Amino acid sequence: MRSIIKGTGSYLPKKILSNDDLATFLDTSDEWITSRTGIRQRHCADPKLETTSYMAIKAAEGALSMAKTSPLDLDLILVGTVTPDYRMPTVACMVQEGLQAKNAAALDIGAACAGSIYALSIADAFLKAGKYKNILVVASESMSSVIDWQDRNTAVLFGDGASAAVVCGNDQDQSGFIDFDLYADGAQQKTIWVKAGGSAVPIDNQALLEKADKVIMNGREVFKFAVRAVTEAIQKIIDKNHIATKDIALVVPHQANLRIIDAIAERMNVPKDRFLINLDRCANTSAASLLLAYDEASRTGRIKKGDLILMLAIGAGFVWGASLYRA
Ligand code: ACO
Repeated sequence: MRSIIKGTGSYLPKKILSNDDLATFLDTSDEWITSRTGIRQRHCADPKLETTSYMAIKAAEGALSMAKTSPLDLDLILVGTVTPDYRMPTVACMVQEGLQAKNAAALDIGAACAGSIYALSIADAFLKAGKYKNILVVASESMSSVIDWQDRNTAVLFGDGASAAVVCGNDQDQSGFIDFDLYADGAQQKTIWVKAGGSAVPIDNQALLEKADKVIMNGREVFKFAVRAVTEAIQKIIDKNHIATKDIALVVPHQANLRIIDAIAERMNVPKDRFLINLDRCANTSAASLLLAYDEASRTGRIKKGDLILMLAIGAGFVWGASLYRA
């Protein structure tokens, strides 16, 4: 038995901020952002309406509709997010209520930009164990709520959005997840992090003054680590599964930065046109990015039955992973 993606969905906030829009209040330019990152615009949530849970529910509705699955048939809801509406309850519980998925257990996964791949892997394990039949994986982020909009190092990189997949068992053919590898390196925890807002550094006036509730990032270190870690993860998963890179029809990577993707493509020796790229329009939507790209690939006919797909993600922690999927 393999677990299969039966349907996907996504949600992007209505408001779009272009690079030129950012340059009206930040010391930056479209030329700098595009040439360094490949990002041209990002979606920006209306905090009064488009909360993390709202976007998650919208993406989930799209995935359930494509999968022709009733919310009542869901056994488990997993939500990848590091920007929940509240410290508690979880976004997963809010999605369960929003969908009226009364028979589903619900759990958030805090794996930053690797939230989708970690959640998909957990769903795969539950399905293979025979514990559940239908699992909803959602990833939703309001990155705009944790960005210091005066910090040009980070403000240009992120976007808001949500994505979702209905995952269920398949014993009819070879379609489904072939393998997952998940990794973590906690020694890198301060390469990209948010200092305040947890139990160690509560948000008080001093924290607000220092903007310690916003993302702090060492961009160069992220870049170096991401390229090395993801390249090694790819090599391991393709070697283990006796796969040649020429057999990979589509690579769906986390959409952090075009230069990171370029470096990985070059090291893998896979042509760039086999990578699904939407960061030019969506920027880095953290956990949501992988399934957002997969949903776009699925809805635009980039995925054909039988295609071998490589999924990749890396995020703060660091946490990262790779997966092979037969469409
Ligand atoms: N606009 C204009 N100038 C800028 C901007 C900006 N938005 N940001 C930084 N600069 C300036 C810097 O201040 C610096 O100026 P200085 O030379 O006068 O000091 C100069 O540009 C070069 O800065 P660097 O940080 O060295 O620029 P670099 O070429 O390394 O590019 C970048 C920065 C794009 C952040 C790169 O390091 C990167 O892509 N890192 C990966 C970060 C990432 O993807 N994070 C996502 C979250 S984690 C994840 O998803 C895996």
